[in-house]
This record gives sequence, structure tokens and C-alpha cells, in this order.
Amino acid sequence: MTTAKLILDGKEYEFPTVVGTENEVGVDFTKLRPTTGAISVDPGYGNTGSCASSITFIDGEKGILRYRGYPIEEIAEEASFTEVCFLLIYGHLPTQRELDTFNEKLTYHSMIHEAMKQFFDDFPVTAHPMMVLSAMIASLSAFYPRATTDEDRELNIIRLIAKASTIAAFSYKKSVGQPFIYPRNDLTYTENFLHMMFAIPAEPYVVPPVLNKALNLLLILHADHEQNCSTSTVRMVGSSQANLFASISAGVMALWGPLHGGANQKVIEMLQKIREDGGDYQKYMDMAKDKKSGFKLMGFGHRVYKNFDPRATLLKEAAADVLAGLGIDDPLLEIAKKLEDIALEDQFFVERKLYPNVDFYSGILYRAMGIPTEMFTVMFALGRLPGWISQWKEMREDPKGRISRPRQIYTGETKRPYVPMKDRKATVATPEEKLEPVTV
Ligand code: SDX
Repeated sequence: MTTAKLILDGKEYEFPTVVGTENEVGVDFTKLRPTTGAISVDPGYGNTGSCASSITFIDGEKGILRYRGYPIEEIAEEASFTEVCFLLIYGHLPTQRELDTFNEKLTYHSMIHEAMKQFFDDFPVTAHPMMVLSAMIASLSAFYPRATTDEDRELNIIRLIAKASTIAAFSYKKSVGQPFIYPRNDLTYTENFLHMMFAIPAEPYVVPPVLNKALNLLLILHADHEQNCSTSTVRMVGSSQANLFASISAGVMALWGPLHGGANQKVIEMLQKIREDGGDYQKYMDMAKDKKSGFKLMGFGHRVYKNFDPRATLLKEAAADVLAGLGIDDPLLEIAKKLEDIALEDQFFVERKLYPNVDFYSGILYRAMGIPTEMFTVMFALGRLPGWISQWKEMREDPKGRISRPRQIYTGETKRPYVPMKDRKATVATPEEKLEPVTV
């Protein structure tokens, strides 16, 4: 399969195809408009490849997810999160010496500039932690403005991974009115995060191994997922040659949406609502099938996975293990399992191939770890950092890289003359402006 033929207005055109290492086939349309005058139209980009990438492979039909060729099931079982960061960013599993050096750099750069602490005081207490995370990551470009050489970029990658977990933990401490706990040099990346989150000055806090293991798994499972909404945002922003911090800050904002990473917070809120409503599953299943209700079964469905999300499978097992290990009986886990069982039998869900995605069970784990619901998407972002960084780096190192600039099909008014104010008539009722005072 080396070419694709297109017949447009009776004229035949031929386009080359590209075939990936997993035999995925793409039609190369880079010359489509110059040769045919037409563009391809694919709202939501469900059928459009934005790039070639060697970082992550997903097979949606078979539920396959691999980071640099390594199956997610093996990585989740064997690797540490910082090892996965190294693998995604530099393309190979690190030797022990490479990993030790990488970890040392992360430890060395884990503090944030003291001036940044002031920012936490200036946000309203109601500020969502995803907004804080995005704003603080963007502000790193003020403290570390050098971003032109490879050395600058390499150091900024380390700074970002190292400081993002400190920023996240500090935003939590601020939200609960407790003093910041600084990172320690004797703890691993995941231990440090949990220590910064849950230690208090009054007494020593030893990170429970079961929580550290759960956090390691959660961050690994979220680490990359090829060209999802937030990663495509990072690539789009980075394609203008905006710096790393600016590009990742934009990715955090894209992830925040409830259809994307924000779904993990919405899943728990949905399960709590079902519980408070007496566990009336059928009522919510019926709402999910009724478009007019505006209700979606959050944590269900995926643009790529059409049989199962391998991450959801691993998280479902881990949630049960961690809850048992901690002796916690979380009724939301039973409700989640019940919803999954009902959906797997329901024609509406079966026909549309809607299965639990990564967000369906992750919240149960975060809850078991004592992480507040509003921090769930921040946890997703911390996990996705190495993925965003590796995809940004791959895009910036592409010698054929260009600024991303899609086209459109215009459907607005055709040419018409300007109308002076005196001749204009109101075409729609202008509602009286109600200026609401800012309450926060
Ligand atoms: C993530 O892309 C990635 O890789 C993302 C991610 C990653 O790691 O980066 O995997 C992380 O974002 C996971 C998804 C988290 N979001 C949610 O759980 C929100 C609920 N899910 C839906 O909003 C939806 O399934 C999406 C956004 C995940 C996928 O949207 P698509 O591919 O555009 O699918 P669609 O909205 O066109 O749905 C197809 C049909 C529609 O019905 P019909 O018009 O065919 O009648 O399925 C229905 C939808 O109404 N549908 C749902 C549903 N999801 C889809 N109906 C009820 N509940 C749902 N959850």
C-alpha cells in the first residue's frame, strides 16, 4: 500500500502513504491543498494524525499501551516513576548510574524559589489547584528565563519535574491552612511528595510503603498517552517555539476539562451523588442514555480504546488491594464496580463501545491515599508531566518541525457592505446587563 487515490470533481489525484512500525497506515496529505485546492475536514481530529512519534503506542481495539515499546503491564509492575520519566524523555531504560544521576538532579532542584511562596497567599482560597498548578508552572519561566540552548532546555526539564510536585503539595498545604513542608534529600520522588503532602511539623511522618507503591503506580499509568487533548495542546503551543514552561502550563489547562483529566474528580462526585441518592443505579444509567439529560457516565468511554483501557484494569485491581491493605471499606468502589457491571450488559454502552477509562477507578485510589477530590486532576498532571515533556522535546527536535496552523471551512456571511450606526436596527433583543459583584 504505497499510494492512495482521490477523485475530486472528476480529476484523479494520488497521495503517498506512511506506514508505522506497528503497521498503522496514514495517507500523507501534506500536498493536498496545493494539488487539489481542497482541504481535509475532521472536527475533533478523530481520523487525523498530527505527527509521527516514537514515544507511546496504543492499540484501541486490543487494549495495548506501550511506552517506548515496553508493555504498560510490565512497566507498572517493575519500574519506578522516575525511571519511566527517564525512559519517555530520553528513549531508553536508564542504567542504574543514569537513574541515580537523574534522581539526584530531581532532588537537587525540588525546592521552589522562596519568592514563589508569596503567590500562594495571593490566590483566593477557593482557587482550584489546577489553576494554581498552571499559573505556577507558567511563572517558572520568570525565574528561569533562559530557554534557548540544549543545556537550558535539559535543565528546565529537570526543574519542571522536580518543582511540580513541590508546587502541588504546597498548594494542598495552603488549601488546608497548614505550613509548607519542604522536600527532603533523603526521600525518593514519590516519598517526597507524600511527605510534603501529609507531614506536619509537630510530629515525624513516615511514608507508608503501601501508599508509596500506589502513588508510583498511579503516576506511571498516567505518564503518557500519545496525542490526547492536553498533549496535542502542548505540541501546538510548543510549535510556536514558546518555552517549555509556557507549553506545559497550557497542557495543564487542557487536562483540567471534565471530558479529559478533570473526569477523575467528576467520577467521584458522580459516585457520591449516586450513593446519596440511595444507589439508584438504573436512574443514572437511564440519564446517561438520554442525551437531553446532559448527564454522562464520567470515567466511561474513550476516543481510542474500544474494548478496554488497560490502565483501568490495573487501577481496579490496585484500588481493591490498597483498600484491603489499609483496611478501608469504601462504598464508592462497590458502586463503581456495580455501574461497570450494568454498563457492560447495557446495549447503549455495548453498541457505543463505552468501557471504564483511566479516570473511572483512579479517584478511589486517590481517596484511599487521603488526597482531596479537588487534587485528583493535579495528580493526573504530575503523572502526565514526563509524557508532555517527551512529546514537546520530540516535536522541538524535529528538523522538519513547523508551527501548527490548521485550516477551516468558512460558513459565515459572504461579502456585504458596512452599515453606518444610524442605519442599524436591533436584530436580537439585548438582555439588560446584570453586573454581579465578584464574591471571592
Ligand atoms: C482521558 O485521549 C486520551 O488518551 C485521554 C486520556 C489520556 O490518558 O490522556 O485517556 C484521559 O481524558 C480519559 C477520558 C475521560 N473523560 C471522561 O470519562 C468523560 C466521559 N467520557 C465522554 O465524554 C467521552 O467518552 C470521551 C470524551 C472520553 C470520548 O469522546 P468521543 O470520542 O468524542 O466520543 P463521543 O462523545 O462522540 O461519544 C460517542 C457516543 C455518543 O453517543 P451517540 O451520539 O453515538 O448517540 O457515545 C456516547 C456519546 O453520547 N458517550 C457517552 C459517554 N461517552 C460517550 N454516553 C454516556 N456516557 C459517557 N461517558
